[in-house]
Amino acid sequence: MLPILMLALTADAGSVARPALFDTVCVACHAVGGSGGQVGPALDGVGTRRTATDLDKWLKDPQAYKPGTIMPKIEMTDAQRAEFVKWLASLK
Ligand code: HEC
Repeated sequence: MLPILMLALTADAGSVARPALFDTVCVACHAVGGSGGQVGPALDGVGTRRTATDLDKWLKDPQAYKPGTIMPKIEMTDAQRAEFVKWLASLK
């Protein structure tokens, strides 16, 4: 694994690593820990509001989950989505 990736993965104090894609894409609209965009809701505590199943469906296709939502579908692999679900579900 590249050292820079290791850094990104270990930057959070929490036990589940924040996916690198968060800092390049999601952060434009979402804040976590007080930093990030305001277009979407801050994701702190999202793990208490949503189940892993809901998070997975949401990321897979926001429009299908909630027609009319302004959150775009973000292209990612199944493995990346699984990483996101694990991380998001851990935000409590
Ligand atoms: C263009 C802005 C935008 C981007 C980029 C974006 N989101 Fe969102 N997201 C939103 C908006 C707006 C909502 C609220 C949607 C609604 O309720 O209709 C939302 C909702 C969510 C929710 C549900 C939050 C809750 O409180 O229940 C999650 C989880 C989420 N986004 C994760 C992500 C992740 C992970 C990424 C990156 C892969 C991402 N979003 C990228 C705008 C965005």
